[in-house]
Amino acid sequence: MSSTPVTTPPRRPSLQVPPHPQWPALSAAETHALKTRIAAMLAAQGAVLVAHYYTDGNLQSLAEETGGCVADSLEMARFGATSEARTLVVCGVRFMGETAKILNPEKRVLMPDLKATCSLDEGCPADAFAGFCDAHPDHTVVVYANTSARVKARADWVVTSSIALPIVTHLKAQGQKVLWAPDKHLGHYIERRTGADMLLWDAACAVHEEFKSFALEQVRRLHPLAAVLVHPEAPDEVVDQADVVGSTTQLIRAVVDMPNQEFIVATDEGIFWKMHQLAPHKTLIAAPTAGAGATCESCAHCPWMAMNALQSLERVLLDQDQEVQIEEAVRAAAVTPIQRMLDFARTNA
Ligand code: 13P
Ligand code: SF4
Repeated sequence: MSSTPVTTPPRRPSLQVPPHPQWPALSAAETHALKTRIAAMLAAQGAVLVAHYYTDGNLQSLAEETGGCVADSLEMARFGATSEARTLVVCGVRFMGETAKILNPEKRVLMPDLKATCSLDEGCPADAFAGFCDAHPDHTVVVYANTSARVKARADWVVTSSIALPIVTHLKAQGQKVLWAPDKHLGHYIERRTGADMLLWDAACAVHEEFKSFALEQVRRLHPLAAVLVHPEAPDEVVDQADVVGSTTQLIRAVVDMPNQEFIVATDEGIFWKMHQLAPHKTLIAAPTAGAGATCESCAHCPWMAMNALQSLERVLLDQDQEVQIEEAVRAAAVTPIQRMLDFARTNA
């Protein structure tokens, strides 16, 4: 490999991973009534849901039943522009809501909870990142979608996990050196796959970093016929055991398309809802984290994704108080690298 991670500035030590929000349990009748009320409010407000695969299954089903979408970050970004809705209610984490607003400034973008951040976004403060870019002016700046609008505004390209490999392959073919931020694991995976010359920022996903390689080897021995599916935000030793490495959509497709009956899945457990829906007869096994009794960050469910629930969704539709706002100069700068990715996806799909 050509480079080691560049750790200036160092990863922020101070990020507190919050406990998972505890939503009151709802009976089937209460859930049905709540979904019916929310569907009526969405229709009355000309709003649609744009939900990520890691959110609660009730939100995913409601999004599908009401004309919204359930998708990975790339498709979520694309959906807003194709929708006629005046309001997009993004159920996911803040960078997803910001991307929707950057691409659709004329629409209102609401989220169930604007505090739903992402450890990668938090691990890449815009000012420090600008200093890093200034120190390496000969590099093309490629940032993962899991970043703030200000970090995107500094980038040449934005990528998501489903399109990062082809875009970096393209840049390498043009002889460009890449400054990559913020996910060091995804960056290192891409560096290994493409052989591109990459400088890596040092941040990680608090959820995927918890998958354990030794424990995974043991689970594989117990299930020798299972295919191993890994999101590339996981560490190298976990990625190296995968049969398929890919974005959430690519992992869901693998469950549907591969002949295996069993799958060991190393990504947020929210994805199981869609996998079960599309392949109900297949067996899904959660890849091991630090396990029961470990800290909250070791339970394979993103605590910020978990802030999205039917209850918080109803609240925002009533109160209208969680609206994504982005300063126009920042938005105008951030739209260029995102649009570059979308144009690349259209012409290279
Ligand atoms: P995808 O783009 O693969 O959906 O990933 C988003 C994410 O945040 C994974 O942790
Ligand atoms: Fe961010 Fe990880 Fe949560 Fe995805 S799972 S939103 S990368 S903290």
